[in-house]
Amino acid sequence: MKIAILPGDGIGPEIVAEAVKVLNVLELGFETETALVGGAAYEAHGHPLPDATLQLAKGADAVLFGAVGDWKYDTLDRPLRPEQAILGLRKNLGLFANFRPAICYPQLVDASSLKRELVSGLDILIIRELTGDIYFGQPRGRRIATDGHFPGAEEAFDTMRYSRPEIERIAHVAFQAARKRKAAGGEGRVTSVDKANVLETFQLWKDVVTEIGLQYADVALDHMYVDNAAMQLVKAPKKFDVVVTGNMFGDILSDAAAMLTGSIGMLPSASLNDKNQGLYEPSHGSAPDIAGKGVANPLATILSAAMMLRFSLNQPEAAARIEKAVDTVLSQGLRTPDIYSEGTTKVGTVEMGNAVVKALG
Ligand code: IPM
Ligand code: MG
Repeated sequence: MKIAILPGDGIGPEIVAEAVKVLNVLELGFETETALVGGAAYEAHGHPLPDATLQLAKGADAVLFGAVGDWKYDTLDRPLRPEQAILGLRKNLGLFANFRPAICYPQLVDASSLKRELVSGLDILIIRELTGDIYFGQPRGRRIATDGHFPGAEEAFDTMRYSRPEIERIAHVAFQAARKRKAAGGEGRVTSVDKANVLETFQLWKDVVTEIGLQYADVALDHMYVDNAAMQLVKAPKKFDVVVTGNMFGDILSDAAAMLTGSIGMLPSASLNDKNQGLYEPSHGSAPDIAGKGVANPLATILSAAMMLRFSLNQPEAAARIEKAVDTVLSQGLRTPDIYSEGTTKVGTVEMGNAVVKALG
């Protein structure tokens, strides 16, 4: 088994180092290989996703990814910007199914910006389609408008599109995840988030998800418009179980859901293809403003490594050990600044990583 380690930019290298430390202590015998990605790869090789990095990722059983991006690259041509690295990996590896669990640890209820009773016990799973939608739809570009409100003016355009098989496969992923959660005591409900009241793309989405739902009589299905879903997420987030949605709505809603848990610094994610090969990354970004200061929260990345062990590397016990260790350090009151509250102990990135290692027992 081989893991490709892609630390990336900003806080990426700091948080990935802590996750690798945790993995090494477990001595699972995996081979690891590290490569540059994002702005770091652009600096060294002139491209955010050099072919060697892509081939390493393709040949690995799993990819552990930090984060990419920095404001200093915002003026580069789009194909050279760091974000293209993660988009290119998703596309080239066919990582269509993105799992973003939002779990509020009891120790962190007071770090949430919402009232304790709204988030206490929160455990929802956002499943975001990751290789289609307006993110990848062609055509896109800039041109001079020939129609619309201002013919002759410069305009830009992107294309929102989904095909039936793309919707079918992500719907299956969502229903199966809900079924699994039900078996583990969960509610077993999928909420499909769309904008079918306005968009053709999402009318097809809704129709296809409804059809696939007929194959899962044991799982409940409801539909919600994305604007309402955004409102419900901050009004009554515990009413959700599994949420399935398109690429762009999923991007937006998963940031909102992350914040319910106290800090986006706590949220892992898994992006899988149809062979269960996966890329694992924290849901947060590269946070260039705090990079190099040793204050970033490594727990989302450490929890992403646990997801990797469970989903792609068939090591559920090791995954559970990591998750338990994270729970332990939170119970010990250790907090990076993003989750700090009065009465707890503020620690840095490395200290937090070391504490998790120690808690592994
Ligand atoms: C995410 C990020 C990415 C996205 C960016 C970095 C391209 O926001 O993973 O949510 O928009 O998908
Ligand atoms: Mg995002």
